Amino acid sequence: MKSLRSIVLGVASLSLSKFAFAQGDTAVYEDPESGISFNIWPQTDVTFGIALPANGLETDATEFLGLLTCTSPGGEGVGWCGISLGGGMVNNLLLLAYPSEGEVLTSLRWAPEYGPPELYTGDAELTQVSSAVNATNYSVIFRCVNCLQWTQGETTGGAATSSGAVMLGWAHAGSSPTNGACADEGVVARHETQGMFRGTLNDQAASADYEAWAALATSPVPGTCA
Ligand code: HEM
Ligand SMILES: *[C@@H]1O[C@H](CO)[C@@H](O)[C@H](O)[C@H]1NC(C)=O
Ligand SMILES: *[C@@H]1O[C@H](CO)[C@@H](O)[C@H](O)[C@H]1NC(C)=O
Repeated sequence: MKSLRSIVLGVASLSLSKFAFAQGDTAVYEDPESGISFNIWPQTDVTFGIALPANGLETDATEFLGLLTCTSPGGEGVGWCGISLGGGMVNNLLLLAYPSEGEVLTSLRWAPEYGPPELYTGDAELTQVSSAVNATNYSVIFRCVNCLQWTQGETTGGAATSSGAVMLGWAHAGSSPTNGACADEGVVARHETQGMFRGTLNDQAASADYEAWAALATSPVPGTCA
């Protein structure tokens, strides 16, 4: 017979993992072009993955390599998607991504409330390894430096990669941002779908090859900005 303690613990962990944050089933994906190996968590409309520096499972990483692939129900090159690096939309570092002129533009954002996100003003640095746009999906591989601890005004936060999991959120919209030629100026309307999940990091999430992979992220892709 189960002890009361194990039943209570079972219920507590169920309510945390299944309802507040769905469990993200961790898969390993290796990008054939760059050789970068990611832990990925496929969600409806959005697949996000990360690769961490060699010691990222022992020491909280400050940067990561990311893979973001999103569906384009509106047709090739249409729509936007985004990730919250803390799970919830509000008061966490957000990454906005959308296809534009054959590229995938990326912009770091911040939402002090549920509404159109403003620009993130912390010292994070975003560069890309590659991107692809086809009839059904758009995808970007990027390096995000100083993205796992964040500060906007008085608010600070972060993701603790040494804890063995990251709390993540995703959002997806079928229509493109307006004024989107420049990534930091693109204005989004509300997403149609969104969710949160706990992304468990397995022992392949961190790699001794990280430095070599990170060196492939050479260019910021800001779009056409005035
Ligand atoms: C006009 C723009 C936006 C509006 C009005 C908006 C509004 C909202 C609202 C009301 C929710 C609560 C969930 C619900 O009620 O169904 C939500 C959730 C969420 N949003 Fe947004 N959003 C916007 C843009 C964005 C962007 C650009 C991102 C990411 C880059 C994002 C990420 C998320 C995430 C991850 C969630 C789920 C976690 C949570 O509920 O906090 N949102 N959004
Ligand atoms: C690409 O888009 C298709 C069609 O919308 C979808 O079924 C598939 O899951 C997407 N792939 C990824 C990796 O998001
Ligand atoms: C489009 O890209 C996605 C994700 O990168 C890929 O899974 C899919 O096979 C591609 N579809 C076509 C038609 O090339």
